[in-house]
Amino acid sequence: MSFEIRKVIKDFGGIRALDEVSFQMSQGTITGLIGPNGSGKTTLFNLLTGFLPTDGGQILYKGQPIDGLKPHQVVELGIIRTFQITRVFPKLTLLENLLVPTRTNRIGNLLRSPKTKKKLDKAQRLLETIGLEAYMHEPASTLSFGQSKLLELILSFMIDCDTVLLDEPSAGINPSLQAVINDWIRAENKEGKEFFIIEHNMDVVMNLCRHIIVLHNGRKLAQGEPAEIQQNEEVLDAYLGD
Ligand SMILES: Nc1ncnc2c1ncn2[C@@H]1O[C@H](COP(=O)(O)OP(=O)(O)O)[C@@H](O)[C@H]1O
Ligand SMILES: [Mg+2]
Repeated sequence: MSFEIRKVIKDFGGIRALDEVSFQMSQGTITGLIGPNGSGKTTLFNLLTGFLPTDGGQILYKGQPIDGLKPHQVVELGIIRTFQITRVFPKLTLLENLLVPTRTNRIGNLLRSPKTKKKLDKAQRLLETIGLEAYMHEPASTLSFGQSKLLELILSFMIDCDTVLLDEPSAGINPSLQAVINDWIRAENKEGKEFFIIEHNMDVVMNLCRHIIVLHNGRKLAQGEPAEIQQNEEVLDAYLGD
């Protein structure tokens, strides 16, 4: 079991953003988290990653309670969230940024080690994917906001971790780029990384995720395989009513 959430509650003043939400995520999958705006998706990610305390219930990861942990302690367990990666260093080049997780930022040293040579190849292929290979030796400060977001996304593919949480990774991305990014997510998943993805684009969710959890008004409305979710009347109503 990856995450196991038991009757989790989160209140903001008088608003109950999460109302006794329970589910289990089996290990090694790609799970989607969907729901209309304001349904509590980002709040749930904040609880899972130690950014906010819960007001009730329990959160387990691989059988261990993790509620109450600080964000850096959650990272140490192997759970990474894209915006948590504050490692887009403006003065380092794009390539250096991607190689920081290997703990040596001297390209010359990297080339001498076969393992890090593999990382360098991967970083270059990822930069090609997002169309920034021509800028690999430019400082990250030259990137636009959208490009920095993409850099952050591919950084999550470089980092050694078990679980990656992505909050709307496809926002502002064109369909052809989306397709290659999906291929990377699938490839990383095959290598053993699991993904938990908040996503608005239904085509992406249905195509990429093996399991989907639906939130509505802070409650879990449904959970199941894409085909089941697509035919769920309550889910359709929740979206149409939004
Ligand atoms: N830090 C906060 N302070 C007060 N209210 C919040 C805060 N974060 C979220 N909320 C409220 O909690 C509810 C769920 O928000 P959110 O988790 O961002 O939804 P989603 O990501 O599904 O769009 C909304 O009503 C939102 O206004
Ligand atoms: Mg959100």
